[in-house]
Amino acid sequence: MKPVLDKLEARRAEARLGGGEKRILAQHKRGKLTARERIELLLDSESFEEFDMFVEHRCADFGMEKTKVPGDGVVTGWGTVNGRKIFLFAKDFTVFGGSLSEAHAGKIMKVQDMALEMRAPIIGLYDSGGARIQEGVASLGGYAEVFKRNVIASGVIPQVSVIMGPCAGGDVYSPAMTDFIFMVRDTSYMFVTGPDVVKTVTNEVVTADELGGAQVHTTRSSIADGAYDNDVEAILQVRRLLDFLPANNAEGPPEWPASDPLERTEAALDTLVPENPNKPYDIKELILKVVDEGDFFEIQESFAKNIITGFGRIAGRSTGFIANQPMVLAGVLDADASRKAARFVRFCDAFEIPIVTFVDVPGFLPGTAQEYGGLIKHGAKLLFAYSQATVPLVTVITRKAFGGAYDVMASKHIGADINYAWPTAQIAVMGAKGAVEIIFRADIGDPEKIAKRTKEYEERFLSPFVAAERGYIDEVIMPHSTRRRIARALAMLRTKRVERPRKKHDNIPL
Ligand code: HXC
Repeated sequence: MKPVLDKLEARRAEARLGGGEKRILAQHKRGKLTARERIELLLDSESFEEFDMFVEHRCADFGMEKTKVPGDGVVTGWGTVNGRKIFLFAKDFTVFGGSLSEAHAGKIMKVQDMALEMRAPIIGLYDSGGARIQEGVASLGGYAEVFKRNVIASGVIPQVSVIMGPCAGGDVYSPAMTDFIFMVRDTSYMFVTGPDVVKTVTNEVVTADELGGAQVHTTRSSIADGAYDNDVEAILQVRRLLDFLPANNAEGPPEWPASDPLERTEAALDTLVPENPNKPYDIKELILKVVDEGDFFEIQESFAKNIITGFGRIAGRSTGFIANQPMVLAGVLDADASRKAARFVRFCDAFEIPIVTFVDVPGFLPGTAQEYGGLIKHGAKLLFAYSQATVPLVTVITRKAFGGAYDVMASKHIGADINYAWPTAQIAVMGAKGAVEIIFRADIGDPEKIAKRTKEYEERFLSPFVAAERGYIDEVIMPHSTRRRIARALAMLRTKRVERPRKKHDNIPL
């Protein structure tokens, strides 16, 4: 019996070496970990169960039959993160540059199918040269099989992608259809066609980093949701994110033991909004003071900074937070901010995560750049997403809620359950200056009259009370009690059930 056991051990050792010592060393020299080292960091210690360690490619072209490596460039299996089950695959760049063969795709499909059946999240770690060139169309077929599974699983289980090296050609579309993409600065890049093809086709000269590095995708394209300095940091942050995510769309948000008292009041919030309505303040302070233990995981921190999106916890339960940021462009809604927030609302709604919205918005951004860029359609995305959401929605207006942006930012009218306003709130069709100049145009030449009219407008309309008199605001609350009020509202809303008419699917303005 012993020789058989030894043989298994030897075969395992060979598979664990992937493309061999030399290539592992090259991987380390570039500041990257290997697929197995990454898995070790991502999962709880000793929890990894590997599948298909001995799978090999079946290609016999270009002399490939002589170069078979067990595992074929991707390590797959399942394990736990803080005790919760996840499935994963990690591309092994040391084997044919992590490129995707038919067999390699089959391994990914197996874990995708299992993750969906087990209703557990799936994480993909990317480090790959794209389609296995020697396999041609078999590789393209493999990609498409993976893509289809991404789509079927979308909205059922969380899917997270971490780009930790090259991610080119066929490799980009699977991450693009997952819920979150994270990148590693300097060592990762994502593009459909690389710098050489770009040069040939368009004559543009760019480096891989300029074309698809973490900076580009977190600040300009918004393809990536976050960037980290190295593999270790990226993986630790993914573990942190997973703690916020439900396992699937039926389980509800995870609940962790919480020691932060729900009754906690924050006196500093009473003076957060400045006297001068045109002065900015940092809305993140409010988020950090409201969530349990100040623990907030921001999504798309570097893109469309005029709106903040991310996860926190209230009473130990994950909650999505969306907030206009007065520090950036006065918190205005533009096309990018609308798209960013709309996608976040839809993730939360798909996975039954309640949403808290903090509103301080002067309106939609005017101008040809915005209108030509499709502001109407992008703004409609956010309106659509909030209107469609059936999860508990709690809204707090801290200052401005003007015009169409008032409607869009989780107003009562589009389905929010509890709408609070601080006494500093100004809920109106527009600011005083613009309003007076329109309705008292005849008085424009008379500064005294205009000043009087402006004062009248401010007193009557720039407060939360006109909206509160109509019941659009459920209550005007003390800023210092915001955490307690939100916590009580969310506790009450836990049994919320909304039925909508049956349809195949909606037609969100994409
Ligand atoms: C087979 C590949 C490969 C690939 C890399 N390798 N990419 N083998 N198919 N796609 C192999 C190399 O031959 C090499 O093998 C090893 O992986 C490491 O590659 P290097 O080139 O030495 O590494 P590096 O200099 O770091 O460059 C990495 C790279 C480059 C930028 C990813 O390898 C590259 O440009 N690869 C090709 C990318 C590409 O064009 N892919 C096809 C895209 S088309 P040895 O044995 O020397 O270590 C596509 C269409 C699908 O994906 C569309 C579906 C929708």
